[in-house]
Amino acid sequence: MGRETWVAGLDIGSSKTCCVVARVGDGGEVAVAGVGVAACTGVRRGAVVDIELTASSIREAVGRATSQAGVAVPALHVGVTGEHIVGQNSRGVTAIVDHGQEITEEDRQRALRQAQVIVVPPDRTILHALPRGYVVDGHEGVRHPVGMSGARLEVEAHIVTAGQTFLANIRKCVERAGYYCADMFLEPIAAGDAALAAGDFSQGVCLVDVGAEATNVAVFDELGIYYTSVVALGGRHITADIAQLLRVSAEEAERLKLCHGSASPATVAEAELVEVHQIGRADARPFRRRALCQIIEARVREIFDIVQDEMAGCGADVRATGGIVLIGGTAAMPGMRECAAAQTGLPVRLGGPAGVSGLSDVVAGPAFCTALGLALRAASVSTGAAGHGGLFAVLHEWWRRIRGAFRLDAGTGH
Ligand SMILES: Nc1ncnc2c1ncn2[C@@H]1O[C@H](COP(=O)(O)OP(=O)(O)OP(=O)(O)O)[C@@H](O)[C@H]1O
Ligand SMILES: [Mg+2]
Repeated sequence: MGRETWVAGLDIGSSKTCCVVARVGDGGEVAVAGVGVAACTGVRRGAVVDIELTASSIREAVGRATSQAGVAVPALHVGVTGEHIVGQNSRGVTAIVDHGQEITEEDRQRALRQAQVIVVPPDRTILHALPRGYVVDGHEGVRHPVGMSGARLEVEAHIVTAGQTFLANIRKCVERAGYYCADMFLEPIAAGDAALAAGDFSQGVCLVDVGAEATNVAVFDELGIYYTSVVALGGRHITADIAQLLRVSAEEAERLKLCHGSASPATVAEAELVEVHQIGRADARPFRRRALCQIIEARVREIFDIVQDEMAGCGADVRATGGIVLIGGTAAMPGMRECAAAQTGLPVRLGGPAGVSGLSDVVAGPAFCTALGLALRAASVSTGAAGHGGLFAVLHEWWRRIRGAFRLDAGTGH
């Protein structure tokens, strides 16, 4: 019998908490064994606003996932996101101590530490320092400097900083729920593990997670993560627009969105009608479905207009030649792909989990990529071994380097 490890990823979203429990075989293969989802009203755009509500949502989601898997997993790999997250690319340089000798892991770590010498306000902390590539004696494009000869090592790294209190409050919620926060990981990076294929990295893509209250944007290229940002708009804004313009309750607006919504009104027949229950009226009234979808389209176009501005602002529009990969609950809306493509002029596709077995239809949806990605990260940490199927095999080496950064992060309290 091979060694078996159990891991759990936890995504605390503005609308739902989702836990994915997975079994990791001794070859590193990952199989989802349990999924738990619970409504969450204690978090807004990645920030905890109610500890008790969030803790009970975590308790419920993890409880469901672990009982489905039939195991207890006390340590959770938790995702973080929100407007408090800032990503920037930074360079670190070091001289090789034994001139002319081989570059060692110690040299690499020293260069990475140098890249982290950035101005970090006292209320912020470095969450990740992710190496993107190395330069040895002026030679660009080095991926594995350790073992090479050289006198000067330079690293380009993506540094992610986060608000300390935001992280502390998430940790507190996890602990209050009765679990241990083994690790915190930036959600879009974890989601990328689950939603992107190896070819996406080599071509460069922009992963767009349209959730309930926020849209996470992350640009990946062949060296890994290049850019991250958060746009404070999501599915709830669409619901609020419908509620306001059709004068219906939030519940009725959500129902109309989920049952009849499309972000591509041109595909809806002009004569098609839907029943709308307006506030203060006893009877339902017929309403043109295309007009409903035009309300949705306007907001979705606004979201992608901002996403495109963000991409252009960081030079990602030329980097992400593979276009946009859509995930998040709102990505499940019909017509999203077409609407995003029309607004941005870029190729757009829906992202889906790859490289894992045991996925039910539920967890295979775009809203679960983040929780699944966190479980994949946890699996990789637990084994540190090659041999994961699909995308995992490709990401393994990249991940090994990221783990080096984690070790550095140990000094910053993560
Ligand atoms: N089929 C669907 N069509 C349209 N919208 C949908 C559909 N399914 C889910 N949504 C919307 O997706 C949103 C929830 O998405 P998701 O689960 O990704 O959010 P979250 O992770 O909880 O929130 P956030 O990431 O913003 O903190 C809700 O606004 C919901 O109305
Ligand atoms: Mg989310």
